[in-house]
Amino acid sequence: MDQATTSIEVANPPILGNIETKQLSKKQQKKMAKMARWLEGRKEKRIIEKARRKEKRAQLHATGVVIPKPVKKTMASSNCKIRVAVDMAYEDKMDERLIRNTIAQLNYCYAANRRAANPMQYYIINFNGFTKTIFESNKNNQNWDAYIVPDRLEDLWQKDEIVYLCAESETDIEVLDPGKVYVIGGLIDHNRYKGFCYEKAVANGFSTARLPIDKYMKMNSRKVLTINHVFEILLRFSETNSWIEALKVIPKRKGITFINSESAEENEPQDEDTGEKATLEDVSNGENSNNTPNC
Ligand SMILES: C[S@@+](CC[C@H](N)C(=O)[O-])C[C@H]1O[C@@H](n2cnc3c(N)ncnc32)[C@H](O)[C@@H]1O
Repeated sequence: MDQATTSIEVANPPILGNIETKQLSKKQQKKMAKMARWLEGRKEKRIIEKARRKEKRAQLHATGVVIPKPVKKTMASSNCKIRVAVDMAYEDKMDERLIRNTIAQLNYCYAANRRAANPMQYYIINFNGFTKTIFESNKNNQNWDAYIVPDRLEDLWQKDEIVYLCAESETDIEVLDPGKVYVIGGLIDHNRYKGFCYEKAVANGFSTARLPIDKYMKMNSRKVLTINHVFEILLRFSETNSWIEALKVIPKRKGITFINSESAEENEPQDEDTGEKATLEDVSNGENSNNTPNC
């Protein structure tokens, strides 16, 4: 039998839709089954959590306590003026599937920002073409509290305001400054265009910075993160002023071990998918443990 593909039948996970599992390699089938289990688990967790909240509300209601719904802050009313822009200038480097994945990651960024007590100022720039058409075809993407514009970086901001985030930069980002705009490349390329955004940033004379991953953790994989993980790390830093806290966003599957933390228990990162915890080496190298919120 062909080593690469197999005719083993597995229960067709819902995410596969009409794709014939027979056409998938064993590895792909395993991956799909794992994802299906994770989706199932996530669904269950949500149902349990919803029921728990409902019960709590009912209990409080019975005792006459009325809890006002928290008022969600908009970007305009947010105390956080840190600007983060996703640069969507790379449509020509992606096929439709990757463009759709990029849009999904913009959605994750948006959801994280909306959940935040003080949302960051979220920009999606260079937004046009096919990407815009796909994005706008989803009615859930209307009326976003985000600045979605077709303009290029250099038309929106002064050069000295721009900090292009790139894994390849030699400079660690240290703080988030409301006077700067932090740019994330809106490119999913599975390592095909390694360093592409960095080269573009340097060619345009923009400052670049990388996340301070090496300073706080060992990682057994590429330090190139997804758009939404980078966004969420910045958001978490804006809330806690701690890179240790912020970098916990990185999923355990990236093979991470913190080399500096205040307390192993407190800093155990949760895997985004499974909720498993990562190992920590409790060796403090003196990060600001004050953790005063940035915003
Ligand atoms: C999936 S990566 C794109 C990789 C692409 N090959 C490139 O040239 O940037 C998406 C974006 O996330 C940001 N990013 C990812 N990992 C980063 C890191 N370790 N430090 C800073 N920014 C990072 C960069 O802005 C990057 O363009």
